[in-house]
Amino acid sequence: MQESFELKKKMQKGKPIERLPIGVPKLDELLGGGLPKGSTTLVSGPPGSGKTILCYNFLYQGVQHGEKCLFLTLDKQVDGLLTQAEGLGFDFQPFIGNGLAKFLFLNINKKMVYETMLNEILTGTYNRIALDSITPLSEMPILVSSERRSNDLSEFDSEDYAEGKLPIRRLHLMFIVQALETAKTTALITSEIPMGSPFLSRDSITEYLVDGVISLSYNPDSSSRTLSIIKMRNTKHNMFKHSMEIDVGGITITPKTGARPGPRPPDGV
Ligand SMILES: Nc1ncnc2c1ncn2[C@@H]1O[C@H](COP(=O)(O)OP(=O)(O)OP(=O)(O)O)[C@@H](O)[C@H]1O
Ligand SMILES: [Mg+2]
Repeated sequence: MQESFELKKKMQKGKPIERLPIGVPKLDELLGGGLPKGSTTLVSGPPGSGKTILCYNFLYQGVQHGEKCLFLTLDKQVDGLLTQAEGLGFDFQPFIGNGLAKFLFLNINKKMVYETMLNEILTGTYNRIALDSITPLSEMPILVSSERRSNDLSEFDSEDYAEGKLPIRRLHLMFIVQALETAKTTALITSEIPMGSPFLSRDSITEYLVDGVISLSYNPDSSSRTLSIIKMRNTKHNMFKHSMEIDVGGITITPKTGARPGPRPPDGV
């Protein structure tokens, strides 16, 4: 008992963790001010659940405060994203103009896509990065013990496999997360999951590699959306499903409090 009190006292004395607000006020409150600086957070959810829009909130908050921000898109072309963002009130054009924002489309079918992405992350000195989404990369095989890396399995023959040079997705994803950590940037990575999936990412690996997981979902029957913080290192948080809405300005949430329901009234009352 005494020991845990001492430990608590020590932790209180420690340097507070620097946080970067996402730009969704109630969510930032729930996170004690925002995402821990330098952390990587997975945002998972089914199609249309608001993953990309949460990335707009996060990056727009950054550029407005003079931070350098990168949006890496693997699914959609940049023009479409900028139009969608503008429709929601996020006009990134002036920030692209002054060099604070960069939107980069990575074509998964092109050679060196993986290297291009890592190079941009490591050399760009970005304060914030959104990778939307990791799903195409997580489905791209890689031979880790080979001198060369490739997303084209036809380049490799059975001897590679015989020597144990197997495509290992976990390491592949680890390289991406480690690059984000090495760059000391604060990042959001999105992953698409089918409705009702028990996993937190399509690959069911990324959730273990990242510092935080935010899960988005919706119920088409009641036309309601929710957001839950499933994990966030160095942060005390609850795991409630908070009501979420999407409108001009992006995401808003109505936090669910921890109040327990009162005692049930006796029958017949
Ligand atoms: N202006 C708006 N007002 C209200 N809701 C909107 C508006 N714009 C978009 N939405 C909602 O947001 C959804 C798209 O959000 P978003 O693109 O962030 O989803 P996503 O999770 O990234 O989907 P995907 O996995 O398909 O990329 C739309 O399907 C729509 O329901
Ligand atoms: Mg999206």
